[in-house]
Amino acid sequence: MDRKISFIGVGPGDPDLLTIKALKKIESADVIIWTDSLIPEKIINFAQEGAETIKTGSLTLEKITSIMIEKFNEGKTVIRLQDGDPCLFGALREQIEILTQNKIGIEVIPGVSAFQIAAAYNEAELTIPNITQTIILTRAGGRTGMPEKESLKDLAKHNSSLCLYLSARHIKSSQETLLEFYPPETKVIVGYRVSWDDGWTSLIELKDMAKFTLDKKLIRTTIYIISPAICNSTNRSNLYNPSYKHLFRNN
Ligand SMILES: C[S@@+](CC[C@H](N)C(=O)[O-])C[C@H]1O[C@@H](n2cnc3c(N)ncnc32)[C@H](O)[C@@H]1O
Repeated sequence: MDRKISFIGVGPGDPDLLTIKALKKIESADVIIWTDSLIPEKIINFAQEGAETIKTGSLTLEKITSIMIEKFNEGKTVIRLQDGDPCLFGALREQIEILTQNKIGIEVIPGVSAFQIAAAYNEAELTIPNITQTIILTRAGGRTGMPEKESLKDLAKHNSSLCLYLSARHIKSSQETLLEFYPPETKVIVGYRVSWDDGWTSLIELKDMAKFTLDKKLIRTTIYIISPAICNSTNRSNLYNPSYKHLFRNN
């Protein structure tokens, strides 16, 4: 059998949002390496008895990957749990690169990302015809290098649905920039630890985003969705429109 290390997106927190594939992998792993700052313990409780669980919160990339390599070479089934979907802000590439250099095969299993659960909890559709058909997933600049051409100012010009990850600490300057392009009454979904036991979401307006964040003392694990599509009921899609014919409905 082709042995691999699986990188598994476990979703935003609620164990019921795990994919069946993710659950099966967690239940059968010998070693589970997991992002304890962003994944609730409940998900680790699916591990089989005797499984070794290793938290990555205080570890470096070098330490995490050396543990993975060591355990894998001992013949163990090793999985790496990442919150949400691994392709987003998860330092995935750098982990994979080191494993690949060590001739270890990998696979990636997707998960539900934070913006999706925050939208779902608010029954929000983020793509409404003639309002916006685009979702931007980004973050406010911080210590992580933000390419100049992706400044919030440039992205905000599109007036699309905009999801801000990792941005609570920079929300005042983000709000100021966004207000140059979005009306102050634009709806914003703010979600804190959405789908965790103590998590919540709130629907507010852009002009209140920074004050709300400050009042709630939000620093971490917060997602913002700023969108002209939220609570906008003026446009309907062609898909279910009786006057619109398509491949599966041509009469
Ligand atoms: C390191 S990033 C990882 C994102 C993750 N890969 C995803 O797809 O959701 C962590 C950031 O994701 C967002 N996030 C992750 N889980 C969340 C949740 N349950 N509620 C709110 N925001 C969350 C927050 O912006 C948090 O600061």
